[in-house]
Amino acid sequence: MILTEIDHIAIAVNDLDEAIAFYENAFGARVEHREQIERDGVDEALLKVAESYVQLITGTRDDSPVAKYLEKKGEGLHHVGYRVDDCAAALASMVEAGATPIDSEPRPGSRGTTIAFIHPKGAYGTLIELVQE
Ligand code: CO
Repeated sequence: MILTEIDHIAIAVNDLDEAIAFYENAFGARVEHREQIERDGVDEALLKVAESYVQLITGTRDDSPVAKYLEKKGEGLHHVGYRVDDCAAALASMVEAGATPIDSEPRPGSRGTTIAFIHPKGAYGTLIELVQE
Protein backbone atom coordinates (compact mmCIF):
# COMPACT_ATOMS: atom_id res chain seq x y z
CA MET A 1 0.00 0.00 0.00
CA ILE A 2 1.53 3.25 -1.18
CA LEU A 3 -0.76 5.64 0.71
CA THR A 4 0.12 6.00 4.38
CA GLU A 5 -2.24 8.80 5.46
CA ILE A 6 -4.37 11.65 4.18
CA ASP A 7 -1.73 14.37 4.55
CA HIS A 8 -4.01 17.31 3.96
CA ILE A 9 -7.21 18.58 2.43
CA ALA A 10 -6.53 21.90 0.70
CA ILE A 11 -9.21 24.58 0.55
CA ALA A 12 -8.77 27.67 -1.61
CA VAL A 13 -9.91 30.87 0.11
CA ASN A 14 -9.96 34.54 -0.84
CA ASP A 15 -8.93 35.88 2.57
CA LEU A 16 -6.54 33.61 4.46
CA ASP A 17 -6.70 35.44 7.81
CA GLU A 18 -10.50 35.44 7.72
CA ALA A 19 -10.60 31.70 6.92
CA ILE A 20 -8.12 30.95 9.73
CA ALA A 21 -10.29 32.92 12.18
CA PHE A 22 -13.33 30.92 11.03
CA TYR A 23 -11.60 27.59 11.70
CA GLU A 24 -10.29 28.86 15.05
CA ASN A 25 -13.72 30.07 16.15
CA ALA A 26 -15.73 27.15 14.80
CA PHE A 27 -13.41 24.28 15.76
CA GLY A 28 -10.91 25.71 18.23
CA ALA A 29 -8.33 24.80 15.58
CA ARG A 30 -4.80 26.19 15.79
CA VAL A 31 -2.42 27.10 12.99
CA GLU A 32 0.56 24.77 13.24
CA HIS A 33 2.45 26.04 10.23
CA ARG A 34 2.24 29.09 8.00
CA GLU A 35 4.33 29.58 4.91
CA GLN A 36 4.48 31.51 1.66
CA ILE A 37 5.75 29.41 -1.21
CA GLU A 38 6.99 32.00 -3.71
CA ARG A 39 7.60 29.51 -6.49
CA ASP A 40 3.93 28.50 -6.49
CA GLY A 41 2.54 31.93 -5.56
CA VAL A 42 0.79 30.40 -2.54
CA ASP A 43 0.23 31.58 1.02
CA GLU A 44 -0.79 28.66 3.21
CA ALA A 45 -1.83 27.85 6.75
CA LEU A 46 -1.86 24.30 8.11
CA LEU A 47 -4.29 23.41 10.90
CA LYS A 48 -3.63 20.02 12.42
CA VAL A 49 -6.43 17.46 12.68
CA ALA A 50 -5.15 14.23 14.30
CA GLU A 51 -2.28 13.16 12.01
CA SER A 52 -3.52 15.20 9.05
CA TYR A 53 -4.00 18.85 8.17
CA VAL A 54 -6.57 21.20 6.79
CA GLN A 55 -4.54 23.41 4.46
CA LEU A 56 -6.04 26.82 3.76
CA ILE A 57 -4.47 28.39 0.68
CA THR A 58 -4.68 31.64 -1.21
CA GLY A 59 -2.71 33.24 -4.04
CA THR A 60 0.11 35.71 -3.44
CA ARG A 61 -0.03 37.10 -6.98
CA ASP A 62 -2.69 37.32 -9.68
CA ASP A 63 -0.95 34.94 -12.10
CA SER A 64 -0.47 32.11 -9.60
CA PRO A 65 -2.42 28.88 -10.19
CA VAL A 66 -4.37 29.27 -6.94
CA ALA A 67 -5.32 32.88 -7.76
CA LYS A 68 -6.50 31.76 -11.20
CA TYR A 69 -8.46 28.90 -9.64
CA LEU A 70 -10.19 31.31 -7.24
CA GLU A 71 -10.96 33.67 -10.09
CA LYS A 72 -12.45 30.91 -12.22
CA LYS A 73 -14.12 28.60 -9.72
CA GLY A 74 -14.33 30.54 -6.49
CA GLU A 75 -13.55 29.27 -3.01
CA GLY A 76 -13.69 25.60 -2.18
CA LEU A 77 -11.96 22.24 -2.14
CA HIS A 78 -8.79 22.56 -4.22
CA HIS A 79 -6.79 19.36 -3.84
CA VAL A 80 -6.19 16.30 -1.69
CA GLY A 81 -2.69 15.59 -0.38
CA TYR A 82 -1.90 11.91 0.05
CA ARG A 83 1.04 11.08 2.31
CA VAL A 84 3.44 8.52 0.86
CA ASP A 85 6.78 7.06 1.97
CA ASP A 86 8.41 7.56 -1.42
CA CYS A 87 7.13 10.36 -3.68
CA ALA A 88 9.06 9.20 -6.76
CA ALA A 89 7.76 5.64 -6.44
CA ALA A 90 4.19 6.83 -5.86
CA LEU A 91 4.42 9.16 -8.89
CA ALA A 92 5.72 6.32 -11.08
CA SER A 93 2.96 4.03 -9.86
CA MET A 94 0.27 6.61 -10.64
CA VAL A 95 1.66 7.25 -14.12
CA GLU A 96 1.82 3.48 -14.68
CA ALA A 97 -1.86 3.33 -13.68
CA GLY A 98 -2.68 5.91 -16.34
CA ALA A 99 -2.68 9.18 -14.38
CA THR A 100 -1.28 12.37 -15.92
CA PRO A 101 1.45 14.05 -13.87
CA ILE A 102 1.69 17.82 -13.55
CA ASP A 103 5.16 17.43 -12.04
CA SER A 104 7.22 14.94 -14.01
CA GLU A 105 9.60 14.64 -11.05
CA PRO A 106 9.23 15.16 -7.29
CA ARG A 107 10.04 18.69 -6.12
CA PRO A 108 10.24 20.61 -2.83
CA GLY A 109 6.92 21.45 -1.13
CA SER A 110 6.15 23.41 2.04
CA ARG A 111 7.55 22.48 5.49
CA GLY A 112 10.42 20.58 3.93
CA THR A 113 8.29 17.99 2.15
CA THR A 114 8.86 16.44 -1.26
CA ILE A 115 5.81 16.62 -3.50
CA ALA A 116 4.36 15.96 -6.94
CA PHE A 117 0.98 16.94 -8.37
CA ILE A 118 -1.26 14.75 -10.52
CA HIS A 119 -3.72 16.29 -12.99
CA PRO A 120 -7.43 15.99 -12.15
CA LYS A 121 -8.11 14.73 -15.67
CA GLY A 122 -7.54 11.01 -15.43
CA ALA A 123 -7.80 11.10 -11.62
CA TYR A 124 -11.58 11.33 -11.25
CA GLY A 125 -11.66 15.10 -11.23
CA THR A 126 -9.42 15.42 -8.21
CA LEU A 127 -6.18 17.37 -8.15
CA ILE A 128 -3.87 15.03 -6.21
CA GLU A 129 -0.68 15.97 -4.38
CA LEU A 130 1.69 13.22 -3.34
CA VAL A 131 3.46 14.26 -0.13
CA GLN A 132 6.59 12.70 1.29
CA GLU A 133 7.60 14.08 4.68
CO1 CO B 1 -1.14 20.87 -0.81
